Amino acid sequence: MNTKDIYVLGIETSCDETAAAVMKNGRTLLSNVIFSQVELHKEYGGVVPELASRNHIETISICVDKAIKEAGVEKEALDCVAVTNGPGLVGALLVGVSYAKSFAFGLNKPLVAVHHISGHISANYIESDFEPPFVALVVSGGHTHLYYVKSYNDYELLGKTRDDAAGEAFDKVARVLGLGYPGGQQIDAAAKKGDPMAITFPKALMDNSLDFSFSGLKSAVLNYLNKCKMTGQDIVVENVAASFQRAVVEVLTEKALQAAKEKGAKKIALAGGVASNSQLRAAMAEGCKLNGLDLNLPKPIFCTDNAAMIATRGYYDFLSGRFAGLELNAVPSGLAME
Ligand code: KG4
Ligand code: ZN
Repeated sequence: MNTKDIYVLGIETSCDETAAAVMKNGRTLLSNVIFSQVELHKEYGGVVPELASRNHIETISICVDKAIKEAGVEKEALDCVAVTNGPGLVGALLVGVSYAKSFAFGLNKPLVAVHHISGHISANYIESDFEPPFVALVVSGGHTHLYYVKSYNDYELLGKTRDDAAGEAFDKVARVLGLGYPGGQQIDAAAKKGDPMAITFPKALMDNSLDFSFSGLKSAVLNYLNKCKMTGQDIVVENVAASFQRAVVEVLTEKALQAAKEKGAKKIALAGGVASNSQLRAAMAEGCKLNGLDLNLPKPIFCTDNAAMIATRGYYDFLSGRFAGLELNAVPSGLAME
């Protein structure tokens, strides 16, 4: 039996976080460095792709050096370099991919290409003994997907959003409520002070399919705010935030439970930035308990973009020998996940 420890360096630059991390044997976190660009994009109310790429270029080598130093391993001791190559912003992805390629080439180490969503799902393995099979609800700024994760390398897509991603809806509603950027955390905080039953916003259940739609809900919030302004009715921001959040959380929870039922799954895992939402975590915990299901919730720091999840995913690709060549390119729309 091979008992050698495997050290994987993960690199993530798909959006507005420059991140690098080192994982041992896919599960043990040795370092997790995240340089967030939030302050840079704040004044524009969203991520400016060109600014994101330029900032990744400035910080990537500092970020990787820091991750290796904090992990307490020598560069030469790394077994593999794993990098996100899609989906994401093309210029941002290219910085990480180019850096990872030259780093791996210079050290003569294997390179692994990681799909960002499968990275998010792998956050469930960090510092935990959670294993497939399970239903994964991936909710982030760019994705709202339900997968049945049959094994580490076998994903079945069960449903996805037909328009906006859940995180996108949080960000847009936060903007119209004047709560600032990034919106998810602001709505989460404001909702704690509001009444979730104050307003009934529509929930798009999509004929019981496992697909999602959030654009109608976003319009309903806008219409409500316009109506208040026209009729002179007071807008209680906390109540709007709490009621909007309730609508999103109810749909996400219902569909995740429905997916588990349809697949006969015993476990559900959350992933992606919106998975750090306090109300979603509470509702999923309650729903899973009522249905006798196990729920795995990554720590919030592993829900939003990070490189530990990329290193973890890379570990499983390393084990199955799925390496990338130096012709590896960024794929902004992402390849199909196997
Ligand atoms: O996974 P992530 O960091 O980046 C993408 O891959 O998109 O997710 C970012 C998204 C943003 O839309 C942000 O508003 C949302 O996650 N988010 C939240 C919370 N924290 C971050 N949404 C709801 N509640 C939160 N606490
Ligand atoms: Zn992400």
